[in-house]
Amino acid sequence: MPDKHLTDLTIRRPDDWHLHLRDGAMLQAVLPETTRHFGRAIIMPNLVPPVVTASDASGYRDRILAAMPPGASFTPLMTLYLTEDTDPDDVERAHRDGIATAVKLYPAGATTNSASGVRDFDKVRPVLDRMAAIGMPLCVHGEVTDPAVDIFDREAVFIDKVLKPIRKKNPDLRIIMEHVTTEDAVDYVRDTPKNLAATITTHHLIINRNHILAGGIRPHYYCLPVAKREKHRIALVQAAVSGDTRFFLGTDSAPHTDARKLQECGCAGVFSAPNTISCLAEVFDVAGKLGKLEAFTSLNGPAFYGLPPNTNTIRLVKGDPVSYPSHIQTKDGPVTVFDPGFALHWRVES
Ligand code: DOR
Ligand code: ZN
Repeated sequence: MPDKHLTDLTIRRPDDWHLHLRDGAMLQAVLPETTRHFGRAIIMPNLVPPVVTASDASGYRDRILAAMPPGASFTPLMTLYLTEDTDPDDVERAHRDGIATAVKLYPAGATTNSASGVRDFDKVRPVLDRMAAIGMPLCVHGEVTDPAVDIFDREAVFIDKVLKPIRKKNPDLRIIMEHVTTEDAVDYVRDTPKNLAATITTHHLIINRNHILAGGIRPHYYCLPVAKREKHRIALVQAAVSGDTRFFLGTDSAPHTDARKLQECGCAGVFSAPNTISCLAEVFDVAGKLGKLEAFTSLNGPAFYGLPPNTNTIRLVKGDPVSYPSHIQTKDGPVTVFDPGFALHWRVES
């Protein structure tokens, strides 16, 4: 039951542990939507070409800092895109010099701009060994890409075929299984006592696969990993509101122009940066767990990454429904904002 009495809530400033900011005109347009409410974000490296080396990450960070809206106080935490040619020394240098916070593993072909990802996991073993030795975390897109595996099963199969073997060979490597979408992943993370955590997106707490496919196809809900059955969404909500420190917010806010979403073969990605905090407050309120919101958005993530939580706060106030624009305009065209399909009552006062 929602807590009828709580209408005003102050929490530490949230961080987003999985974010796509893109580059150029798109970066310029979407960055303020994140800096408004978030203190830090883990920035995904799947640009074209990808952010592979320390030098790439440093250049990309400079472009993000140059695009920052006036007065914003926001720290982009950069990631390196893991390829089979990644040099362990370059990764170590990026970590030591504070250029990159984590490395991102995309199985080749798993999602948008992942063609340079990993095919043979043994080839990246020297990099993973080095990361374990220096304490640098690995962010993982947890889906197999075998066309023979049903798209709704790709996360569960990834756990058995890829993640468990990696963890067995390298138990000291700190891994974040990103944007988990299944009960299987929640159970696996919960049953693993050490060095494994998971991010959960806002949209996967709200939609199931019916939202995408029943009564018409809704491309703006299509993302990867694709939303699963309702029982999986419920498992994600339970994990998020549980306070368990191994689960934290990574929005996977992933802007694509409407032209690129609404075509014969539309892109995967949900753009949720503008209204994510309002959506989450609603989800936690409906679950009667507003008291756990701060852990999910602002405490568990920094703890796993070994960083202090933000010292400043945001205030959430409940009242009449709040509206957000349905689109943001970019020089490349409009980008549709995630529609949770229900009214939002929590306004964010940063
Ligand atoms: O839906 C998604 N969009 N999933 C991803 O993993 C990548 C992202 C993107 O970059 O658009
Ligand atoms: Zn992503």
